[in-house]
Amino acid sequence: MSSAARHLYVHLPFCASRCGYCDFVTVVGRRGQHAAYVDGLLAELALEREMLAPRLESVFLGGGTPTFTERAHLERLLSGLPPAEEVTVEANPETVTPELARVLRDHGVTRVSLGAQSFEPRLLEVLDRRAGPDDVRRAVYALRDARFDNISLDLIYGVPGQSAADLEADLSEALALEPEHLSCYELEAKPGTRFSHAHGAELARQADRMETYFERVVARLTGAGYRWYETANFCRPAVLARGRDLRSRHNLAYWRGQDYLGLGIGAVSTIRGRRWRTTPKLGGYLSALAAGGRPPCEVEELPAQVRRSERVLLGLRLDEPLLLEGLEEAVDPAAVDRLRRLGLVESGDGGAQLALTEHGRFLGGGVTADLLA
Ligand SMILES: C[S@@+](CC[C@H](N)C(=O)[O-])C[C@H]1O[C@@H](n2cnc3c(N)ncnc32)[C@H](O)[C@@H]1O
Ligand code: SF4
Repeated sequence: MSSAARHLYVHLPFCASRCGYCDFVTVVGRRGQHAAYVDGLLAELALEREMLAPRLESVFLGGGTPTFTERAHLERLLSGLPPAEEVTVEANPETVTPELARVLRDHGVTRVSLGAQSFEPRLLEVLDRRAGPDDVRRAVYALRDARFDNISLDLIYGVPGQSAADLEADLSEALALEPEHLSCYELEAKPGTRFSHAHGAELARQADRMETYFERVVARLTGAGYRWYETANFCRPAVLARGRDLRSRHNLAYWRGQDYLGLGIGAVSTIRGRRWRTTPKLGGYLSALAAGGRPPCEVEELPAQVRRSERVLLGLRLDEPLLLEGLEEAVDPAAVDRLRRLGLVESGDGGAQLALTEHGRFLGGGVTADLLA
C-alpha cells in the first residue's frame, strides 16, 4: 500500500524524576507498570499495523526516558517493533551502561540521541538534571564501544545564569565527543512547569540576548564543519561521513510533511490528512488496550489549506529549497517579493522553489509566518 506511513514514533513515558522545565508526557517511576505498558504498545501496534508500509524508513523511541524502561520489557518492545533503516532511541546519559549499549545494538537500534543539555554542573542543577558531564562522556564511550556510529547530542542554551563563555564551553565539550549529530534548543519556559514559575520572568528578560546565542551556536558548529540542516539541528556532512547522510530521517519526515504513526500515551499520528493524539492518561490507555480496543484519542481533520501552510512553515526550517508545486495557494507572492528585497528569502527555478537565506534562517519562524497567504 503506497499511501501507508513509513515512519513510526513510539512513546515511552517513564522517567526517574521530572525535570522542572519539561512538559512532555511523562510518568515518574511506576516500575510495576512497565510490563503492562509494553504489552499495550505491542497491542496498539497490532491494531494499527495496516497503516504502516511493509518497509519502514524510520522508527523513533522517544520519551520520557526510553532507556529507563525496565530492561526486559525494553528488549521485548524492540524485538516486537518492525525493522527500519533508521532506528533511534532517546537516552538519558545516566542510564547508558555498556550492557544497555549492547542490548540496543543487538536489537537493531542504529542511532542514539543523548540528552546532554549542558556540561556545566551549575546549569545542570538549574535544569534538575540527574546526569553530570562525566555521565555524558561515559555514555558516549559506552555507545562507541558497542559500535554505534550515529550518536546525537541534545544541548539546551539560554539556561538562567549561562554566560556566553559557558555556552562556548558547552559547545567545545560537545564537539570534543565528535557526535555525528547535534540538536541545540533554546530553553523554553513551558506554561505550568516548575521551571516557568521559578525562572519564567528571567527567560523573558533575556530573550533578546538569545538571538546572539543562537548565532554563536550556528557559527561554532558550522565552523567545526557541521551542516546546519534544520533550524536547531546539525550533522556531519556527507563528505566527512564517508558519504552517509546523517540528518535524522525521522525528523526529516516531520519537516517534509510525510505521514507518521505514533504509538503510546500522548503520541501524535498524521496520516492521509487526519491527525490524532492518543490520550495522555496511562490508566485509560492501558485499560482500553487490555480490553482489546483502541485507546481514546482526539482526532482532527486537517483541511487542505492547513496542510499546505504547515508544509511551508516546516519545510522552510530546512536548508534545502521547498518545492512550491501544490503549495502556491499557501504563499503570498507580494510577501515573497518584499522578503526577497530584504534579503530574507530566495526563489529558485523560476519561482518554483523557495528557501530562506542565512539571514532569514536566523529570524526563522517570524519570516515564514509573514510568507503565508
Ligand atoms: C523528549 S525530550 C527528553 C529526552 C530525554 N528524556 C532527556 O531528558 O534527555 C527531548 C529533548 O527536548 C529538549 N527539551 C525538552 N524540554 C525543553 C524545553 N522546555 N526547552 C527546550 N528544549 C527542551 C531537550 O533537549 C531534550 O533532550
Ligand atoms: S527532560 Fe527528559 S528526563 Fe527530564 S522529565 Fe522530561 S523526558 Fe523525563
